[in-house]
This record gives sequence, C-alpha cells and structure tokens, in this order.
Amino acid sequence: MNMYIESIVLKNFRNYEDEKFEFSEGINVITGMNAQGKTNCAEAVFYLCTGYSPRATRDKQVIRYGQDKAYISGNARTQYGAVNVELTFYPDKKNIRINGVETLKMGELLGNINSVFFNPEELKLIKESPEDRRRFLDISLSQMNKKYFYALQKYKKILSQRNSLLKDENKDLIRETLPIWDAQLVKYAAVIIKERNEFLKLLSPFALEAHRFITGGKEELQVTAGYRYEGSEENISAQLLSDLSDSAEKSIILGYTTVGPHRDDLKIKINGEEVKTYGSQGQQRTAALSMKLAELEVFKTRFNEYPTLLLDDALSELDFSRRKRVLEMAEGLQTIITCTEADDAFSGKEARRFSVRGGKIENRE
Ligand SMILES: Nc1ncnc2c1ncn2[C@@H]1O[C@H](COP(=O)(O)OP(=O)(O)O)[C@@H](O)[C@H]1O
Ligand SMILES: [Mg+2]
Repeated sequence: MNMYIESIVLKNFRNYEDEKFEFSEGINVITGMNAQGKTNCAEAVFYLCTGYSPRATRDKQVIRYGQDKAYISGNARTQYGAVNVELTFYPDKKNIRINGVETLKMGELLGNINSVFFNPEELKLIKESPEDRRRFLDISLSQMNKKYFYALQKYKKILSQRNSLLKDENKDLIRETLPIWDAQLVKYAAVIIKERNEFLKLLSPFALEAHRFITGGKEELQVTAGYRYEGSEENISAQLLSDLSDSAEKSIILGYTTVGPHRDDLKIKINGEEVKTYGSQGQQRTAALSMKLAELEVFKTRFNEYPTLLLDDALSELDFSRRKRVLEMAEGLQTIITCTEADDAFSGKEARRFSVRGGKIENRE
C-alpha cells in the first residue's frame, strides 16, 4: 500500500473560500482555465506536507484577500495509520496541529504526509543558482529526515552568528573567536553533508533510469555532488574545518563564510556535458523531472511507500511519448495532476476529475 491523501479542506486559502477535495488513491486530475485555483490546490497539499509553499511566496500571501486568516486541513492514510494535519495562517505566524494537537515545532509537521511537487518553474533546479539546488536537497531531505531538518536549523543559526562576527571591526577578536564558532559549525555541517551524500548516492541511479526511460534510452543523466566532502561525519568535519581555517582571512575580508553546505552545489550532466550550460530547454526540463521522479523512488526505498506526486501543469510541455512515459511511471501511486482542459491527456485513463473555476469545484466525476 502507498500513502495517500484522502481529502483536503481549504478555507480562505488563496482564492478558495471554503472547499473540499476528496482525492482517489490513484490519479486525480484538476482542470480549469488559467488563474482559477489549480496551482493553489497543489500548493495547499505541499504546505500540509512540508510547511512550505513550493512557490517563492510569503505565508501571509495565502490568506484570501480581505480575510484575517487562512486554514487548510488534510487527511491522509499512511503505513502508520490515519493522520490529520491542519495549518492556520495568520498575518504574522502559522499554527500547526497534528491529529488535533497543536505543536510549535515545524519539525513535527515533517514526515506525516509526504509529497513531491513538480511544475514548469522547477526548471530552475537545473538552470538557476546553486541555491535552487540546495533548496531541492533541503526540502526533500527535511521531509525524509528530522535529524537533517534540525541540523539545518542549527547550522543556519550558527552560520549567521559567525557571519556577524566576521563583520566586526576588531580583526584580532575575530581571529581569536572564529575557531570556537567553527567547531560548532562543522558539527552540524557534517550531519547535513553526510545526509546529502547518502541521498545523492540513492538518487543518482534512479535519476539516470528515469531520464533514460523518459527519453527512450538516448541520454545519460548524471547527478553528483559538486563538492568533495566525503566519508564519515568525522572525516567531513575534519575536511571542512581545515577549509574554514584556510579561508578565514578571505572570509574576514569579504565579511561572510565562503565554504560549507550553504555554498555547496550539485553537478548535473547529460552525456558528460553540464545541462545548465549546454542543455536545451527540453533536456533541462526532462532532467528536472527525472530528478523529481527519482526523489519518489528514494522515498520508496527509505520508507517502503511512495509519497503523493504533484504534477502541476508539468506535462503540457512534454511531447506525447514523454508524457505517456511519465504517466506510466506514476502508475501505482497517488498522483494529483493539474492542467488546462486542452492539455488533458488522460481521457481513457481511469482518474478522478475535478474542474475548478474561481476557487470553486465546478464538477466532480
Ligand atoms: N491571497 C489570495 N486571495 C485571493 N485570491 C488569490 C490569492 N492569492 C492568489 N489568488 C488568486 O488565485 C488565482 C491563481 O490561482 P492559481 O491556482 O495559481 O491558478 P491556476 O489555475 O492557473 O493554477 C489568481 O486569480 C489570483 O488572483
Ligand atoms: Mg497554475
């Protein structure tokens, strides 16, 4: 059995006033014209899984215009049983409830309901800055592993303290104090890097396979770490500690920390060439999608069940045979697909259908 989301309720969330989606365990298709609420629905699902929007957005922007709060709730079935997650968004905070119990820790939310989100904007995973690739690692690893999430929080905090110190006028004080921060920093950095390495080791072969399958075996996708920290946590700590001390003078001049997992990147290549620089738009898109499909397989390997796949407007840009292959790969897990009517390639497939308009479900099948 795979985990699946039975239903979600949206109240004053984006353009939804009060609506409930009851999903099937298999394929769900949400159609509608532009700007009617398709992505908003997929966004709500992702929020319930991670506490984050898949869009670059501020939490308070989800509150329906003119309202003072937004509420979303999701019921899911997982191998551990039924789970309910509720999020309430206020202008300055959000509240989390899990099975009716309020929690202040974001980390508690993670891992209850899992999903992988893909839409055309995810192309930035390939094309844009290292930050987008770290975001991919951070979000999927945080869903999979609370230890990672907490190490990342700690790391960011210590990093920002180290960076404030680097801006101090008193250079001698900086030189004296840095080693203390560095010892703290590498402790959490090592957890992050080791988890990323293990994740990549699992992800890469799946990404290669997914990419081969989608492209019909013509291309070899390679996803590897763009840094050289390897081995046990102790080894990684030692390597990074030495890099931190080597780069100390440079960091003092620049006023920020120049090495560590907040700077690391991935290398993504097709047939040996960097996709970011040499890949066509289509190759970049397929590479990004393959990485997301590989993420599904990593979840399955680690937890013995697939998360829900959210394909937001993701298929319209693929040609027919690639689209068909992606749908084949999505067989056997819960998938929520959004598209305009015109791109609906699922007629003939068994699917639960919703059509949305102005934040309302117009009809269900
Ligand atoms: N906070 C909000 N309150 C009300 N409407 C919103 C809010 N945020 C976004 N919207 C509306 O949601 C619509 C976009 O919905 P979206 O789900 O992105 O569309 P699509 O169906 O094309 O995926 C736009 O009409 C936008 O004005
Ligand atoms: Mg959309």
